[in-house]
Amino acid sequence: MRPPAEAIGALALIVTAIAFVIFLGVEAALLYSAWRFRASRVPGLAPQITGNRTLEIVWTGIPLLILVVVFVLMTGTMREIGTSVAGGSTPAQMKVLAVGAQWWWEYRYPTSGGDVIVANELHIPVNTPVDVDLETADVVHSFWVPEISGKTDMIPGKTNHLRLYAAHTGTYSGQCAEFCGVEHAWMRITVVADAQGDFDRWLQAQARPRGDASAGAQGEKVFMSNLCVSCHAIRGTDAKGEAGPDLTHVGGRTTLGAGVLTNTPQNMRAWLADPQKYKPGSLMPRVPLSDADLDALVTYLEGLK
Ligand code: CUA
Repeated sequence: MRPPAEAIGALALIVTAIAFVIFLGVEAALLYSAWRFRASRVPGLAPQITGNRTLEIVWTGIPLLILVVVFVLMTGTMREIGTSVAGGSTPAQMKVLAVGAQWWWEYRYPTSGGDVIVANELHIPVNTPVDVDLETADVVHSFWVPEISGKTDMIPGKTNHLRLYAAHTGTYSGQCAEFCGVEHAWMRITVVADAQGDFDRWLQAQARPRGDASAGAQGEKVFMSNLCVSCHAIRGTDAKGEAGPDLTHVGGRTTLGAGVLTNTPQNMRAWLADPQKYKPGSLMPRVPLSDADLDALVTYLEGLK
């Protein structure tokens, strides 16, 4: 299959071409009428308009035909980019659950060993149709990565479906597309399309509990003895919070706060010291920590690759 954006783009081009032909036709008819019924032709009299049954049938038939053609083309495109659930023409080779929350994303990969949970960075294999189930933990969000998907809302109490397809490896950017509160704009979506082998290795790594944390042992103590532990999970430790993103491999992500900062030790420190400065209204509170505790926490979290 081709990326949904290409299918949608091709359809838009055809519809635009049809609209352009109609525009030319209407303009030509106007010019002809202005000339044909000009005042000098019938001095002192408005032109006599008489009924023309054939013309009326043709005039009604042509728009009907155009609408039927556009309808057929459109349902074909919908089938092409549709998910398996929506009767798409290409079966999915992979499934992911995406959950929107104020203001970040959780992704769950079903595997034989249970769900692999990651946050804010969705990896998919290239050239593979991926069906995404869309849910929300709170209000309405909308999932949209223009280059590789259509746009579908996440509605409370409902599971919607969307097809992703990337024809090239690389990083694709998207954005929550339904206003969902004060930090709606910072609900960025990052999708990384990997070669199949790279994807498999990535998923295996994400499935593991947190690695050797001896270098960050002090930071882990800080994490476990502060508010952090009540909202975040780090598999392999006692941290099992579900309100915020899973942090088991947070050090390996490219951004912090769903796109608000690039993930560097300096930014991690700034973010932990005052999340409200970078994402005002975010549910991540400012936790008062000493400089030494902050440093230890940064070392620990950045070490979780
Ligand atoms: Cu989530 Cu806008």
